[in-house]
Amino acid sequence: MPLVTTKEMFKKAYEGGYAIGAFNVNNMEIVQGITEAAKEENAPLILQVSAGARKYAKHTYLTHLVQAALEDTDLPIALHLDHGADFDICKSCIDGGFTSVMIDGSHHSFKDNIELTKRVVDYAHSKGVVVEGELGQLAGIEDDVNVSAEDASYTQPDQVEEFVKSTGVDSLAIAIGTSHGAFKFKPGQKPQLRFDILKEIESRLPNFPIVLHGASSVIPKYVDIINKNGGNLADAIGIPEDMLREAAKMAVCKINIDSDLRLALTAGIREHFTAHPEHFDPRQYLTPARAYIKELVKHKLVHVLGCNGKA
Ligand code: G3H
Ligand code: 13P
Ligand code: ZN
Repeated sequence: MPLVTTKEMFKKAYEGGYAIGAFNVNNMEIVQGITEAAKEENAPLILQVSAGARKYAKHTYLTHLVQAALEDTDLPIALHLDHGADFDICKSCIDGGFTSVMIDGSHHSFKDNIELTKRVVDYAHSKGVVVEGELGQLAGIEDDVNVSAEDASYTQPDQVEEFVKSTGVDSLAIAIGTSHGAFKFKPGQKPQLRFDILKEIESRLPNFPIVLHGASSVIPKYVDIINKNGGNLADAIGIPEDMLREAAKMAVCKINIDSDLRLALTAGIREHFTAHPEHFDPRQYLTPARAYIKELVKHKLVHVLGCNGKA
């Protein structure tokens, strides 16, 4: 099956009360771990690539890895640009075979965000590609941009209708308290998401797919393995899984996961080297790392996203 857009996936997810996992990919082991999990769970997939990933692995290597994932499975897979910062990177991905792009104009004024997003939508739609926009700003680190908790801002529900109508975007990322990275709440702070804002947005945008960024749960199993094997991730804390499940039953159709993949991979590598400090063949330490990615993704598909069996 060729790459698909997210259109059909989101329609079914919205109606079915589940969400699709959007997993960030940077290398072969990550693509394979995710794909093997989705294949065993018969789940639709969004594989997403950031500007940093394109710089690290190169566009062509990543698109060919995703092509291999398609050949290896019969799953609906969308290839998505994560956090496109400007028109040029979106155009480059649209021209280069992606089926979905995010234009992240959330750092701009409302007016400039609309203008930029509309420009990307007009080009993307003329090529059959779908677009995710963003309103509101998440805290945390993405690429080289670090947004402090003080500068983060929730999405304002009274802006969403105008934004969606004026831009023509196909989905909307919102800020309701999630944040990028592995340190989402201060030590002692109770994790909280603004479900009241999500509900308000849902009622203003009926049947419209909402996206949650910064939605890793920072699963204690992998953090513990890292900390027991020479790492130091004290105070790492993520979004509780029951909150994500709740959001997935509502209008949230896409849940972005990157930090959890990084933690699982790192846990596998660190654990391996503690047991086998003499090893230096990458296949030896990347095999358990890839297995942890697969285990993590299976868990997400079944217990958090609810999209197993929905391919
Ligand atoms: O939201 C950002 C993603 O975690 C991608 O991170 O830009 O470091 O690849 P990156
Ligand atoms: P996490 O850092 O919570 O995994 O978020 C990833 C993300 O939003 C990618 O766009
Ligand atoms: Zn993000």
